[in-house]
Amino acid sequence: MSSPRHFLTLLDLDSAQLLGLIQRARELKAMQYRGEIYEPLKNRVLGMVFEKSSTRTRVSFETAMIQFGGGAIFLSPRDTQLGRGEPVEDTARVLSRMVDVIMLRTYTHEMQERFAAHSRVPIINGLSDLHHPCQLLADMQTFFELRGDIRGKTVAWIGDGNNMCHSYIHAARRFGFQLRIACPEGYDPTILDDPENAAAVRLGRDPLAAADGADLVVTDVWASMGQEEETRQRERAFASFQVDAAVMRRARPDAIFMHCLPAHRGEEVSAEVMDGPRSVAWDEAENRLHAQKALLEFLLVKSD
Ligand code: CP
Ligand code: NVA
Repeated sequence: MSSPRHFLTLLDLDSAQLLGLIQRARELKAMQYRGEIYEPLKNRVLGMVFEKSSTRTRVSFETAMIQFGGGAIFLSPRDTQLGRGEPVEDTARVLSRMVDVIMLRTYTHEMQERFAAHSRVPIINGLSDLHHPCQLLADMQTFFELRGDIRGKTVAWIGDGNNMCHSYIHAARRFGFQLRIACPEGYDPTILDDPENAAAVRLGRDPLAAADGADLVVTDVWASMGQEEETRQRERAFASFQVDAAVMRRARPDAIFMHCLPAHRGEEVSAEVMDGPRSVAWDEAENRLHAQKALLEFLLVKSD
């Protein structure tokens, strides 16, 4: 049995494949808007294991499978044997003999890799402590729809050097944009020891300098899921890293603002920016559905 294709980080696909997914996501969106029924995954099942909460990831994957003619099963460690200590490897072996594709939202990225190593079917990373590649498919789709090709453009990441920031670093490599990161000392991305990642970014401490002339400004929460006990300390460290009107004024006049959501108005983003005319967060959220449909089709139909 040949080993399945997984999607644990954006680097699992090359630039041409990623551009193909974005293009296909836009076609699938247009088909959906026209009311066309398209069921390439009839009778196929997605298993979804969530160690952490989710609104967008769960609903977009579940909806995608239903619209594609298949189904999705939501699994939480609280009510599966995973939560009672059944090994990840055994769970991967068993689930992958029943379902056709598995999405995992885990604390550790290492769990994703262990799961993938023992799975007969594709594993999709629906967020780990290190990466959030599905969100980047939606973000890239949104940029392409609203502003065209992102190659050669400038993106400012302001805030934590977290899982989303890491996936932006991978996106800069694959989609060919300049990435400027502004984060407080002590909160740098942890994947810059890889020279190819380091070469793709400019790291600084000044949000205004990062935003200067940017085409896209992006941020995310100061405390990610699992870091709740660090909230106070992080609020202090990130206090001068809010994306507000002053930051957006430094960007290009046609610059757009993205946030993967959930957003904390008054913390990482001001309400004025979040709810203002340059925020494309709602298109971005919707595109999770279309981009993941393209991904599911790519993994299950195109590579069959
Ligand atoms: N952006 C995102 O992944 O949202 P959820 O946590 O709601 O899935
Ligand atoms: N960085 C955030 C993203 C949520 C979608 C987290 O990991 O909680």
